[in-house]
Amino acid sequence: MVRQLVALGDRPRVLVRNVAASTALFGDNAEHVAVDLDQDATLGRALDGADRVFILTRQSLRQPDQERSIVEHAVRAGVAHLVKVSVFAADEQSPLRIAQQHGALERVLKRSGIPATILRPTYFMQNLLRAVRAGELRSGVGSGRVAMVDARDVAAAAVAALTGPVGRNTTYTLTGPRALSFDDVADVLTDATGRPVRHRPAAPEGIRAATLRGGYEAWFGDDMARLHALLADGYEDIVTDGVVAATGTAPRALDEFARDFARSLRDAAA
Ligand SMILES: NC(=O)c1ccc[n+]([C@@H]2O[C@H](COP(=O)([O-])OP(=O)(O)OC[C@H]3O[C@@H](n4cnc5c(N)ncnc54)[C@H](OP(=O)(O)O)[C@@H]3O)[C@@H](O)[C@H]2O)c1
Repeated sequence: MVRQLVALGDRPRVLVRNVAASTALFGDNAEHVAVDLDQDATLGRALDGADRVFILTRQSLRQPDQERSIVEHAVRAGVAHLVKVSVFAADEQSPLRIAQQHGALERVLKRSGIPATILRPTYFMQNLLRAVRAGELRSGVGSGRVAMVDARDVAAAAVAALTGPVGRNTTYTLTGPRALSFDDVADVLTDATGRPVRHRPAAPEGIRAATLRGGYEAWFGDDMARLHALLADGYEDIVTDGVVAATGTAPRALDEFARDFARSLRDAAA
């Protein structure tokens, strides 16, 4: 997202808890402001002078408070446009808690009075960088097909909305160009890395444990086990024109992602 804005000649202000890390990544191309969203006071006047705000937070029980606080600060700062990363099928009645949470937060944006763009992506292709271990892609997805989206296309949709005239008061469901089974995904990764990747079934307990190893809260482990069961039933077996509508460009296919990230995937597959 930052790289794409910089490529357009912008100098975005990034609000991050680790300024050293963002400075190492972006140097003077961005303005770095230390904000820990778990400490509301650090948000202080960080949005003062901002005309557009992009909201992306981590999936935790603190996420609703964090995003509500960002929206309150944005209203106070007179921000003219908000762009939020939500999730596929966000809905307060969803069987997934993460989708309920995002559904409620979408309502907070809509009630803020600030024109908003909501992005609802499916499963990120970048999740595969963590999901593949020792030549195995473990899932509870069975033969269910998933139209994964490249996170770079989510960023492109956000950049288009922030920098162009399109997308105000619009919700985009963002998918990749094809829905693939995880067996097909394993084949694409095998081709791109030159190392065998096999899709293996994982029980809900295994999915829960793998999620917790990523530092997430227990409820999110349960949610991910539930998500895999839904994916097995075709929950994200749907291709939309959201990326084209938002950016004017077709979404990246999985083989392009796999080629671009072949080195990291090869390490994971080894
Ligand atoms: N992953 C998917 O497949 C997927 C699909 C659809 C929608 N989404 C949605 O996309 C959003 C991001 O997901 P993700 O998987 O990219 O999450 P993530 O990897 O956990 O990224 C969250 C970002 O929030 C920052 N952060 C965490 N705690 C913070 C705090 N206290 N103060 C300031 N910054 C903090 C992290 O910074 P650090 O670098 O400091 O940790 C990180 O850059 C979520 O809302 C999720 O529901 C994800």
